[in-house]
Amino acid sequence: MEVIEILREASNRIYENVKDLAGTDDAAGDFGVGAGGDISRNIDMVAEKTVLDYLKEINFECVVLGEECGRVELSDEPKGFVIMDAIDGSANAVRGVPFFCSSLAFATENKLSSITDGVITNLSNGEMYWASKNKGSFFNNKQIKVHKKDPVYKIVGINTSGSSIELMNKLHPIFENHNHTRHFGANALEMAMFAKGLMDIFIDLRGKIRIQDIAAGYVIVKEAGGMLLDADLNPLDADLSYETRVSFIAAANQEILDEIMSQI
Ligand code: IPD
Ligand code: CA
Ligand code: CA
Repeated sequence: MEVIEILREASNRIYENVKDLAGTDDAAGDFGVGAGGDISRNIDMVAEKTVLDYLKEINFECVVLGEECGRVELSDEPKGFVIMDAIDGSANAVRGVPFFCSSLAFATENKLSSITDGVITNLSNGEMYWASKNKGSFFNNKQIKVHKKDPVYKIVGINTSGSSIELMNKLHPIFENHNHTRHFGANALEMAMFAKGLMDIFIDLRGKIRIQDIAAGYVIVKEAGGMLLDADLNPLDADLSYETRVSFIAAANQEILDEIMSQI
């Protein structure tokens, strides 16, 4: 079984197991602080267990790097890392806001740039975004590309949750100059939608994004033809450690990148 098929099946199983849980009192149950540093909710735990049970069932020889469960070694001779954010957008999932997803990626080395496969499933409706290195990005069964043409409405995705006043001041010209700024609350799903051409740029300069938030989006954006850069405009890369936090800019083309960067 190809790695991408394993990630897709795991992702489908998460959807089946959580689709009736989101927005219920049961979703919110508090399991203490997880490996990623946030409180693990019951819906996070159910989703992670689904993936771990499945990977064990098929004897997939890997090390899992989960946002809640931390590092779980499923083999003495692992083929690589499964980077798991089983529920991205937990606040939305718990409240029942229909914008949350699962994000599963596979990396061969301890680096973002070694990611070969990624799957992001919109858990409010089961729609799937997926990509394998050098094979393109897909939405369900249709190939997707970032939006290269001049858009009718320019949509600027910008994550500002928990930003300092200094960062807000720096970003202010973007808000002043653009009527269609967006932030929906699930970083991975926003990257997937950017890859599908629904936004022209998506930026998060808070320095808060974890590897789990970005791993599947990394390959889906790149395979859809997007530019993925760090805050210094170098190609984004990082190691897969739990301490790593990144800022990033995903841009559909050089023109929009230059336009936005000239304002901040
Ligand atoms: C969060 C979401 C959110 C982003 C936070 C992440 P979680 O992930 O991606 O959009 O602003 O920085 O921590 O906690 O819901 O998995
Ligand atoms: Ca996350
Ligand atoms: Ca999460």
